[in-house]
Amino acid sequence: MTSTADLAIAQGPDDQERFDELIAHEQRIEPRDWMPEAYRKTLIRQISQHAHSEIIGMQPEGNWITRAPSLKRKAILMAKVQDEAGHGLYLYSAAQTLGITREEMMQQLISGKAKYSSIFNYPTPTWADMGAIGWLVDGAAICNQVPLCRASYGPYGRAMVRICKEESFHQRQGFEILLTLMQGTAEQREMAQDAVNRWYWPSLAMFGPPDDQSPNSAQSMAWKIKRFSNDELRQRFVGMLVPQAEILGVTLPDPELRWDEEAGRWHMGEIDWDEFYEVLRGNGPCNAERLERRRTAHEEGAWVREAAAEYARRRARRAEAA
Ligand SMILES: [Fe+2]
Ligand SMILES: [Fe+2]
Repeated sequence: MTSTADLAIAQGPDDQERFDELIAHEQRIEPRDWMPEAYRKTLIRQISQHAHSEIIGMQPEGNWITRAPSLKRKAILMAKVQDEAGHGLYLYSAAQTLGITREEMMQQLISGKAKYSSIFNYPTPTWADMGAIGWLVDGAAICNQVPLCRASYGPYGRAMVRICKEESFHQRQGFEILLTLMQGTAEQREMAQDAVNRWYWPSLAMFGPPDDQSPNSAQSMAWKIKRFSNDELRQRFVGMLVPQAEILGVTLPDPELRWDEEAGRWHMGEIDWDEFYEVLRGNGPCNAERLERRRTAHEEGAWVREAAAEYARRRARRAEAA
């Protein structure tokens, strides 16, 4: 039985104060807790954009499943693309706990209203792109997402734990593809280097604009959704890449890149933010193609959704009759 004392805690007179206290004490906010509307909205936007990125992110790689160079490579790539679908599903479920429906999120995506990570609007012309995506894109995703395992919103943080384990497998498989190519013929080495050249800069841009141009970051950090700034995460990522690039024998395509002993950080060349914003606005090389493919897949899957809903209705009726 619930005592009045329990109720007093659950419906305390100062919800904001309780929320602030939970955040200050590194406690989790759960779906049944009161939360400021701006916190809820920020999370819905961030988690749904993240889910959309996982789902759209299946396309550049799905493109290579039938053309991967061996049965083993096909099986691995298929498993990887399926993992990304799973990530999308956990994240949609986490967003649903905040009061938005799956249908609403899907509509926002296929209508072009919702954003997703701009990296997935680049083409994958060669097999080496599978290596570069795994190594660089999944690698950047790990740097971004490991701190999200401690995000203050419970369902988001918990979803990230499993996602990060899978992302780390993805990064290793990408590294291994590049390593194999780099130990191959001159042509294969060239193909690997070319893919790294094309994916390196967009993967750095995945962390978002520089800290002084990222107005929402401070609030997200105060809410303990975000734990490190964009520039801090970018620094970590580059620090992880440099020794790995050496093992691979690839060159990171930034002639300015060097460790700045005095500043204690990596000095890097300027990211092309105009290109980043152009792609974000929908004018990247594959934006239209990616959205069109998602729309078609959604329409073609309508009968599956209807059949599943009907099956659930029948089971419910049978359970009621029993
Ligand atoms: Fe993923
Ligand atoms: Fe991944």
